[in-house]
Amino acid sequence: MNLFESEPAIHIREEIRTLPAYKQGRPAPADAFKLSSNENPYPTPDWVTEAISEASVVRYPESTSRVVRDALARQWGCDTDEVIVGAGSVSILYQLIQATSGPGDNVVFAWRSFEAYPWITTVAGAEARRIPNLPDHRHDLEAMLRAIDDRTRVVILCTPNNPTGAAITTVEFESFMERVPAGVLVILDEAYAEFSNDPDIVCGKKQKGKYPQVVTLRTFSKAYGLAGLRIGYGIGHHAIFQAATATAIPMVVTEQAQRAALAVLARNDEAMEIVREICDRRDRVWAALVEQGWDVPKPHGNFVWLPTGDHTAAADAILDEGGVIARVFAHEGIRVTIAEEDSVSPLLAATSRIVAANLHRPASDG
Ligand SMILES: Cc1ncc(COP(=O)(O)O)c(C=O)c1O
Repeated sequence: MNLFESEPAIHIREEIRTLPAYKQGRPAPADAFKLSSNENPYPTPDWVTEAISEASVVRYPESTSRVVRDALARQWGCDTDEVIVGAGSVSILYQLIQATSGPGDNVVFAWRSFEAYPWITTVAGAEARRIPNLPDHRHDLEAMLRAIDDRTRVVILCTPNNPTGAAITTVEFESFMERVPAGVLVILDEAYAEFSNDPDIVCGKKQKGKYPQVVTLRTFSKAYGLAGLRIGYGIGHHAIFQAATATAIPMVVTEQAQRAALAVLARNDEAMEIVREICDRRDRVWAALVEQGWDVPKPHGNFVWLPTGDHTAAADAILDEGGVIARVFAHEGIRVTIAEEDSVSPLLAATSRIVAANLHRPASDG
């Protein structure tokens, strides 16, 4: 029962009133695999649970995540002020765009890419410039450069790209950086970088210190299995982070999240062992999909992209029936997370049924 009978006469900004709500990956019933949110499938290790249990609930957390930033600075070989920590990397994205972009400004990014980009840009009051990916699902970096004008404040490069899995090479990135205007903030969103083991793919860590206008974003949500705690980080110039800190909600990174991040960093090799396992599984799934007849871009993250176009709803119904809950992008395709080993057979059985029904290619491909 509603408390109120009529709507309040409060002014809501038009672009907010019409903004679609952020869509989360669908939950899965108990007998299905949740492959819809690119989460890490493994149980939380005891040493993470112990670290969390040492955190205070009655005290506010230390607001700058100083100890985590110190640890990351050691890992990256940079100054602590060149590290920012937020409640997930999406929170840092939000802060950076709030700090740089407002009405009349624009933010350029590839599309399809991470759904938060247009949402965050619109909330800041800026224009979201979506530049369609190339037919092979990679960013169209030349078109992105052409879309930049004197009101462009930020360009976001997502590599590996969510949801297509394609990535930007070092050569492409460096050529892009040679031509991007110096006043534009370039956000290198590397939420899935740990899963990218191709030496030709750009790596923010190897590029560090080369371009003062670049911020590299990473997260503890994927490779490190801390999605539920909300903690991510950025590496870049301290002046940019000073501005981004000014736009943050104070003390949003909990002590639990900070302690867990320190615990996983201290056992980095174990986290990377799991990443290697997922990468092997991903490459196996990709090879099997190609064998089945799919035209799936080579995946560089912990997920695969099924470009089903107008067949997307019908293809998803088959996955669903087969106990696989994936992330659906209507009329475009389906993103499937590479997760526990037991999910592989149901996934490949369902994708083979999709091929048998000739639903594995966009309708225009026949
Ligand atoms: C490309 C990309 N960037 C950033 C994020 C945000 O990650 P988090 O806020 O959990 O660190 C995600 C999450 O799915 C993502 O796919």
